[in-house]
Amino acid sequence: MACMALSGMKDRYVHGSSEKEQRRLALMNKLINQACLRALDPGGEEFVLDVGCGTGEFTRAIARCLPGSSKVIAIERDPAQLATAVDRALADQEADLVDFRVGEAAFLPLRQNEMGRFDLAHTRFLLEHVNNPLSVVETMFEAVRKGGRIVLADDDHDTLRLWPEPPGVMDAWRAYFETYRKNGNDPFVGRKLVQLLHQVGAEPQKNTLVFYGGCAGMREFKGIVHNLYEVLGGAAEEVIQAGLMSEKKYIDALYALRDFSRRPDAALWYGISWAEGMKPRYK
Ligand SMILES: C[S@@+](CC[C@H](N)C(=O)[O-])C[C@H]1O[C@@H](n2cnc3c(N)ncnc32)[C@H](O)[C@@H]1O
Repeated sequence: MACMALSGMKDRYVHGSSEKEQRRLALMNKLINQACLRALDPGGEEFVLDVGCGTGEFTRAIARCLPGSSKVIAIERDPAQLATAVDRALADQEADLVDFRVGEAAFLPLRQNEMGRFDLAHTRFLLEHVNNPLSVVETMFEAVRKGGRIVLADDDHDTLRLWPEPPGVMDAWRAYFETYRKNGNDPFVGRKLVQLLHQVGAEPQKNTLVFYGGCAGMREFKGIVHNLYEVLGGAAEEVIQAGLMSEKKYIDALYALRDFSRRPDAALWYGISWAEGMKPRYK
């Protein structure tokens, strides 16, 4: 725990942990968890680690795929986020499914007999929010056993395309991800996931894009656009205060995005970068 004081506390999770943000996370999990589970394909693992678990929905979705004897540990830095993860698990009568622990991704609060034992270490949408993603992947590499899997899923903000393009929205999107750079984070970390795996000594095994888009006519479409709306809306103050876009232009862009969600010809294209590596068996 002493390490936590020295750790990357200067990393700032731009979205925070308000009730509104936690509702957004719940919506996002509902929209993408099945596709992310298909990519992850859990099942054989008995000891699993999820780093930066947020409100824990995806950790529990993973845990449900595993044998009854398995153990899943989830790490989250923000106590408010973790409290909601525990409450949501309790409400779904899954209190024992996951061991939720408060802690810092680069200094995992694991016991000595847990380190180097995990069959799978997973993280989603965390590396984009830390100043030193490599150190997080290093700790995940340390945590898995030889032959274990390390799975990284994260954003490359450049993959977003909306068509017909609503006026101002791509400018607002770019201003939003410029706040990442301002905070020392990397909005394009998604494209670097395989390189990060290689850098820590893992053997890359697979990469893919998990589709997180949709079009008019799809049941989920309004939810997908709403998530984007909430992401941009939640960052409004930071974007405007940093002078990255004027308040008027930003708000106009949000209105344009809302109108876009009602168009009969609208399409949103986005891919979550996803990569898997293995800790070498013989090194
Ligand atoms: C976008 S949320 C993703 C949550 C979850 N992985 C998911 O996909 O639903 C990112 C989470 O990472 C947490 N986080 C940010 N920096 C962290 C760090 N250095 N160590 C641990 N958790 C961190 C945030 O508090 C937030 O809950």
